[in-house]
Amino acid sequence: MSRLIAQNEQGPLELKPSAESRWLCRCGLSKNQVFCDGSHKKTLDEDPSKTYEYAEDGSRKEII
Ligand code: FES
Repeated sequence: MSRLIAQNEQGPLELKPSAESRWLCRCGLSKNQVFCDGSHKKTLDEDPSKTYEYAEDGSRKEII
């Protein structure tokens, strides 16, 4: 599976270590980048052989 993600940021975000665990988004769908907001759950049924595009409203379509 793969996903096309539009990114607008042009630089890094500083993380300051704390006692609490912080979860960083690796799926690209979080509305609270760079942190996970649970949106990755939408990807759990993706077919590994397909490529998907996700819209702002969270809907997705298969593009390849
Ligand atoms: S890993 Fe991307 S929203 Fe959780």
